[in-house]
Amino acid sequence: MLATLNAHERTRISSLQAHPLLANVAALSWDELLALLLQRRFLSLSIVNVYEGVIDALESDAIKATVRQILHEEYPRNTRGVPLASHRELLFRDLLHLGASRECILTTREAAATQEVRLASLQALQCCLGQPHSDLALIAFLRFWAEVLVSVEYECLWPRLSERLAQGPAAAGTRSEFFYYHMIHDRRQSDIGTEELLGGLTHSQELARHMAELISCEEALQIAISQVERAWELKDRFYQQFLPLPAPSHRPGGGL
Ligand SMILES: [Fe+2]
Ligand SMILES: [Fe+2]
Repeated sequence: MLATLNAHERTRISSLQAHPLLANVAALSWDELLALLLQRRFLSLSIVNVYEGVIDALESDAIKATVRQILHEEYPRNTRGVPLASHRELLFRDLLHLGASRECILTTREAAATQEVRLASLQALQCCLGQPHSDLALIAFLRFWAEVLVSVEYECLWPRLSERLAQGPAAAGTRSEFFYYHMIHDRRQSDIGTEELLGGLTHSQELARHMAELISCEEALQIAISQVERAWELKDRFYQQFLPLPAPSHRPGGGL
């Protein structure tokens, strides 16, 4: 039964990778790339709201505990319990190292298209409420929107980001503290239902384990698939805003 869902997920991952914007990041100027990243930051800022919304809405304490654990990783502490820079702060640092000025990051306004996607993402959580498989719907959306596709987005962008942010033992220059970490730590890594604890689980895999337990009938399967579709559609729409507008068509007899 999970095979249908896994196949659908792989299809939608490929769809996002093939998005005309994400498949052609090499063609973007640095100004265009930074403008995109500054809009993308608004989705990153909203991720805490999405996680908190899911925790409030979940009925299962076990799933709540998993989601809470992932949320708390957004606010790391050192071994003495002292708060370190949050993931949003690390994003800010990466953006500075990529060449965005402090003023530009702080004063860039959220575009109408970004806001629409951000609000529609929060509304997607409300749509999960009151249906027979609401816990499944909530984590299926959360996982694909906030983990699986995030990793796919950053993987597509990484060839450009790595021009100014390095990673790995032999890396020279500034290391990525945000984008690289999330590209690795959020990724899908394995099909749902085949997670192996050895080596640790990514965030996608931690949520996938709960999904595998909850998908026991065709109705549940279809709900999970529809949430994958909804999450992909929102991310696809977000990147549409950066594509050039189609050239105006010339209508015969049209005026100026
Ligand atoms: Fe994070
Ligand atoms: Fe994550």
